[in-house]
Amino acid sequence: MKAMTAAALLLASLTCHAETPQQVRQTYVTEALSQQSGFAPSAKRGEALFRQRFAINDKMPGCTSCHTDNPLQAGQHAVTGKSVRPLAVAANPERFSDPAKVEKWFGRNCKEVVGRACTPAEKADFVTYMSEVR
Ligand code: HEC
Repeated sequence: MKAMTAAALLLASLTCHAETPQQVRQTYVTEALSQQSGFAPSAKRGEALFRQRFAINDKMPGCTSCHTDNPLQAGQHAVTGKSVRPLAVAANPERFSDPAKVEKWFGRNCKEVVGRACTPAEKADFVTYMSEVR
């Protein structure tokens, strides 16, 4: 009985949290569409966001400060020096599969680097680029 409960809980947590990058992207696209009719995600805009330099934080002017210029490569945290696994799905299949994790890091990194929360449209573009880059 106890084992069954544990199995049921595990199954429930898996169905809640494990998603594909396509599903994660679709959530942001749906959100963006509610703000901007006709929105379509763009890998090109996602790449531009990834490479952009912002003037908020000297230690980390852009996403590339920790994730490097090449999302297929491992990066290094600009402050702690800890290594960061590649952001691109092609190099790291675990990316964009846990919606809570994705939200947590968009929240933290956008605030620190861009100086504000990223919009659903920006997140949809970013996930599109990271899913497609080879
Ligand atoms: C100060 C270093 C740093 C900077 C700058 C940075 N990140 Fe990250 N990012 C991390 C770390 C650390 C993680 C979590 C560790 C991991 O998942 O490998 C992470 C993870 C993420 C994730 C989670 C992806 C997933 O599904 O696992 C997203 C999304 C992300 N970053 C987006 C961005 C964006 C967008 C920017 C630029 C606006 C950015 N990051 C800039 C350090 C950084």
